[in-house]
Amino acid sequence: MNGFALAPALLNWLPLADRGATFWLPQQASSVAPKIDGLFYVILYISAFFFALIVGVLVLFLVLYRARPGHKEQPSPSHSTVLELLWSVIPLILVIVIFWISFKAYMYLREPPGDAYQIKVDAHKWQWGFTYPNGHWDPELHVPAAQPVLLTMTSDDVLHSFFIPDFRVKQDVVPGRYTRVWFRADNPGDHQIYCAEYCGKDHSKMWSRAYVHEPGDFEKWLEKASDPFSDKTKTMAQVGETIFNQRGCVQCHSTKGEKNTGPHLNGVFGSSVQLSNGQTIVADENYIHQSVVDPASQVVSGFQPLMPSFQGRLKDKEIDAIIEYLKTLK
Ligand code: CUA
Repeated sequence: MNGFALAPALLNWLPLADRGATFWLPQQASSVAPKIDGLFYVILYISAFFFALIVGVLVLFLVLYRARPGHKEQPSPSHSTVLELLWSVIPLILVIVIFWISFKAYMYLREPPGDAYQIKVDAHKWQWGFTYPNGHWDPELHVPAAQPVLLTMTSDDVLHSFFIPDFRVKQDVVPGRYTRVWFRADNPGDHQIYCAEYCGKDHSKMWSRAYVHEPGDFEKWLEKASDPFSDKTKTMAQVGETIFNQRGCVQCHSTKGEKNTGPHLNGVFGSSVQLSNGQTIVADENYIHQSVVDPASQVVSGFQPLMPSFQGRLKDKEIDAIIEYLKTLK
């Protein structure tokens, strides 16, 4: 811990402060947040101090040495070794202090603890996905409180950036390689996840939420979420609707009959579909299954082959549920 904990405390009196949030920054919800904020406040206060000092002296000299009757022009002072040393050594010390605090926070961020809970993150236009150790995929991030969590992230298409302001973590997510970020959130709660790298038309809609659970509750959540068919009161079509919305299908395929990035799906099941290769095909179970696992093989006329493959990302049973849901769209 650095010696600057006083600085954030000083600002907490501001009327905008809420749940640890200050006028300048959102709440501190991870173990790294106080380190990042400490650095921010140190730089802020140093800058504010020197701004006030320099502008103050400037104004003072303007008044003291202004041209006026009976006041002769003074010759400019020549070289001063003392002054020159001062304005070299003081900034040098300040830069070393800033470097030292940054370096400690940086090393803390770079070295995930060995016992971290591991979650894989996939990004694609325009959705986040989280895969848990048991293989469950979810559009939202759920983590146990008070335990380090390590995210290993990659992108299916373009550059994205994973950003949770309350945790003070932000890391690029790059196609073709893995990047990592870790955090420890000590208190239960939920927080906003953003994409912080412009990634196309719906970049602004590429957000999700991070839920921090009490340790015991996290295991319960994971068990329940892992089986979308566990709720026996739901029909196959209702489960299909949930999957359709959660997996982001709805972002490109309207269920209200509008044209979007992809064709709308109302009344599609059982209809004849004109493909871009000139072929006409009946939209049955095989057609829809194929469209999910290998979308590029049958692009609908008038649309671009933009849809990612869900091969290996959706189980056959889940695709079956989606098919049942599509049958209900008139
Ligand atoms: Cu993904 Cu912006």
